[in-house]
Amino acid sequence: MTAGEILEYDRRRVWHPYASLSNPPRARLAARTEGIYIETADGGRLIDGVASWWCAAHGHGHPAIVEAIRRQARTMSHVMFGGFTHEPAVELADRIAAIAPEGLRNVFFADSGSISVEVAVKMAIQYQQAKGRPRRCKMVALEGGYHGDTACAMALSDPDGMHTLFKGMMPRHFFAPKPEGDAGRWAEELEKTIDAHKDEIAGVICEPILQAANAMHFYGADFLRAMRRICDERDLVLVFDEIAAGFHRTGPLWAHSRAADAAPDVMCIGKALTGGHVSLAAAIASDKTADAISRGNVGALMHGPTYMANPLACAAANASLELFAAGGYEEKVHHAEEVFKKRLAGVERGGNVRDVRVLGAVAVVETGRLPERDAIDRVIDEYGVWLRPFANFIYAMPPLVCDDAALSRIADAMAAMAALPPGREAAGDFHE
Ligand SMILES: Cc1ncc(COP(=O)(O)O)c(C=O)c1O
Repeated sequence: MTAGEILEYDRRRVWHPYASLSNPPRARLAARTEGIYIETADGGRLIDGVASWWCAAHGHGHPAIVEAIRRQARTMSHVMFGGFTHEPAVELADRIAAIAPEGLRNVFFADSGSISVEVAVKMAIQYQQAKGRPRRCKMVALEGGYHGDTACAMALSDPDGMHTLFKGMMPRHFFAPKPEGDAGRWAEELEKTIDAHKDEIAGVICEPILQAANAMHFYGADFLRAMRRICDERDLVLVFDEIAAGFHRTGPLWAHSRAADAAPDVMCIGKALTGGHVSLAAAIASDKTADAISRGNVGALMHGPTYMANPLACAAANASLELFAAGGYEEKVHHAEEVFKKRLAGVERGGNVRDVRVLGAVAVVETGRLPERDAIDRVIDEYGVWLRPFANFIYAMPPLVCDDAALSRIADAMAAMAALPPGREAAGDFHE
């Protein structure tokens, strides 16, 4: 097929994320990825300013990860995980346990972040069942949160966010306010929400420190401490979804480690786990949670995806974790934060720009309304920087290995977008 034929077929018959087939948004024909770059079939070369949805932490096609996948493919691409185990999975579980918060060493491998969230919720419910509280099968989630696009994960995401269309089908959970303002007062609201439904609630879930895909909002460690205390007092399972914020995106390996005394009972990880090479995620449970589930009335944790612990994905993740372990990422991210802050200092609030904020390798310009899509595309081409604004956010979450020149270019592209006039379409035209 020629490039033109591929694009034409794609426009007519291939769905893209959050897109229409009758009026599809422009899709660029990616031909190759390498390091921090995406190369397109027409000869374009773009810095991947969003690390392909926040995964490609070490850059694309990292030789060590590619070689690990290749090596693994020679002996075993896949085998069912029911009735079999294999070295890449066990090695990975051990690596994860070594870097997870203390006591979290019981790993369930899932094939995507959303599925790991579903599994985390099953863990919370099965924990309560094991404790003789079968009615506790709802979660408390936070307004402004996002946990994925599968049914349960949608139902835990901001109730007024991108999934409102499916309200009729989604299970009903409970929501506490977005974590902002005074943490003490917020904690009172959380307690009120929980205590109003205390016999129904199995646990609390949040994205620690960074609410990403629904809000691009940063918040402090005090909120995490409050959640930990409130869950301890009521024997609720606390789930931290580190899928976006983990692996140094905000600075430390785990965003929640800013609250050293507030480890979760279950932690979800994904995205950068394989450095953006293959889909893999995990829900990791504390000994307390895992023991209760395993000794409970059912005994078994009731989930089992076909591609669970796929050996190619595990091999990629092992290589990715080795790169993280080699160190230097926390410093790189602090440096990225400095560059973003300095470079975006000229973007002033006022007019269409409501706020500019940076945390670690996350830079956000919040607008009143995004510029026109065509104008955004022109900035992408002019600066050679791939950005994908959504809702009313122009943001960057690039590979963690970007050098100063790349980071500055990304920030400049964001500033150029921020200077564009607001578009006619309502915010929400773009998604995640
Ligand atoms: C915090 C968080 N949780 C869960 C998910 C869902 O992950 P996946 O797209 O791999 O299903 C995402 C994806 O953006 C996320 O940011």
